[in-house]
Amino acid sequence: MTQDEQKRAVAQAALKYAQEGVIGVGSGSTVNMFIDALATMKGRIDGAVAASETSAERLRSHGIRVYDLNAVNELLVYVDGADEVTEHLYMIKGGGGALTREKIVAAVAKKFVCICDASKLVPVLGKFPVPVEVIPMARSYVGREMLKRGAQPVLRENYKTDNGNLILDCHGLTLLDPPAMEAELDNIAGLVTNGIFARRPADVLLLAGPAGVRTITAKRL
Ligand code: A5P
Repeated sequence: MTQDEQKRAVAQAALKYAQEGVIGVGSGSTVNMFIDALATMKGRIDGAVAASETSAERLRSHGIRVYDLNAVNELLVYVDGADEVTEHLYMIKGGGGALTREKIVAAVAKKFVCICDASKLVPVLGKFPVPVEVIPMARSYVGREMLKRGAQPVLRENYKTDNGNLILDCHGLTLLDPPAMEAELDNIAGLVTNGIFARRPADVLLLAGPAGVRTITAKRL
């Protein structure tokens, strides 16, 4: 299977988690395929909360109702991709820049289903640079704080998040204890969200490979 075929297979496999009510939908190319698959059975759910404007637009284009998160009492499931994922279901996310809304929707959802092709599974996080969303006036300060922690921050050029902020892609961060680093980065003033998703890891990973889709549940430390 090509990478695109793997993404399509895993998107299709995630449909079984979208049974009722309002579901959370992340962003990225794998999620786009999930949204397209969702359109084939949209009568089963009431609608979706989207983690990015792009996903919201795609959902609407299929006639799927998009809800404001504040209008929803509960989300049974959140389906999203990742840039890297470990067997503990820790992730790096934010390659598409939607990390803040993704972390919010993931926090609300009862079950986080991560959908990935095989290239995303890694033994240790950190080869993919950790994106951090930053309030514009804090850009230099946050950059210096990241340097102190051994990372090389690179400003994402010509990019603004859906929240009007900047992204620093932080290369070379050592991530031996992802939940601890996630918490530490959250304490930097002006840093809105970091792309380590470990304190609220995924509950289920659907991983597509050449032989089909595997379902992996977290090996907790
Ligand atoms: C978006 O901000 C990210 O967190 C995505 O989940 C991630 O980039 C995965 O995208 P692909 O499915 O395009 O690889």
